[in-house]
Amino acid sequence: MPAIQVENLSKVYRTTQKEAGVRGSIKALFRPHYVDKVAVDGISFKIEQGETVGFIGVNGAGKSTTIKMLTGILAPTNDSISVLGRDPHRQRVANAREIGVVFGQRTQLWWDLALIESLNTIAKIYEVPKVRYKQLLDQFSETLELNELLNVPIRNMSLGQKMRAELAATLLHEPTIVYLDEPTIGLDLVVKERIREFIKKQNRERGTLVFLTTHDLGDIEEVCRRVLVIDSGKLIYDGPLSTIKDRFGKYRTINFETAQAVNGLKLPDGTEIESKETRKLSLRFDRTQISASQVAASVMNQIEVVDFSLTEPDLSSIVKQIYNGALKEEVELANG
Ligand SMILES: Nc1ncnc2c1ncn2[C@@H]1O[C@H](COP(=O)(O)OP(=O)(O)OP(=O)(O)O)[C@@H](O)[C@H]1O
Ligand SMILES: [Mg+2]
Repeated sequence: MPAIQVENLSKVYRTTQKEAGVRGSIKALFRPHYVDKVAVDGISFKIEQGETVGFIGVNGAGKSTTIKMLTGILAPTNDSISVLGRDPHRQRVANAREIGVVFGQRTQLWWDLALIESLNTIAKIYEVPKVRYKQLLDQFSETLELNELLNVPIRNMSLGQKMRAELAATLLHEPTIVYLDEPTIGLDLVVKERIREFIKKQNRERGTLVFLTTHDLGDIEEVCRRVLVIDSGKLIYDGPLSTIKDRFGKYRTINFETAQAVNGLKLPDGTEIESKETRKLSLRFDRTQISASQVAASVMNQIEVVDFSLTEPDLSSIVKQIYNGALKEEVELANG
């Protein structure tokens, strides 16, 4: 059985709208005017234990809403989620024991307590055996560099320190599934890297299922093998990260180092110059029109090439295309 099973999941937020002024307020009291907002619109997917899944989409696409339903914080508009065989909302307490959640935008730790006191309390709540707690504390302190922070209250921590503390606290009861909603937001590169490493390690060593939402595609590239793309509440892609790159990485770049200065080169069809120096040339080409070896052959026929290399397609430019509707068009085409 998959660890997470979502079938036609939807969430409609119902809000009341009132007209301006006191009269509007009074009117709204007696005859409220409801407005429905479909945040998640019938999505389905299955995730097996041990998978690393990146969940991406533009602002307002429905990512956080989905995570809140998966974790049991929000009730879906229809019954459609099973996490480790449970309904995460109805069986919230049992569900909470087996999952960990991190929201990058806010901390779940006690503001005034020193980190070690928070961790002690969490270990007690989740009944982590003493010996195990000691082991985990040592491990986390090392990988997340927490030693200097243990006696610092959360309120005095920087954003990056808080996030490291948060991760340790979230993983202390060794959850089977961990949901991360923008865990690296606002962090510097070094802390980002440390956090990615830590998440990967949990997945590798414990088989933790990782469900990660982020606008930082570096997180996805480093941590996730599978990607879900959500757009206006609908799932528009579910598949390996590598397939996204193959399908949408229409343009590649091939870089040449030449023996002589590059002059008067006749470019083959489907290519254009990306950059040019005296003895260096980068050509961007459309993979659907011409292959890398054809580009290389054409250049080598005209000038002496010392070395050449191919640049991998850049995920962020691909995702930009997807967000701009490339995928939607394709899905619409496929559906007729
Ligand atoms: N409590 C709420 N009441 C009404 N509408 C809401 C509520 N929470 C979210 N929404 C709406 O639902 C839609 C999806 O919001 P959600 O927070 O899930 O997006 P997101 O993909 O996480 O975006 P972001 O990348 O900005 O975090 C948005 O249009 C948002 O305005
Ligand atoms: Mg969000």
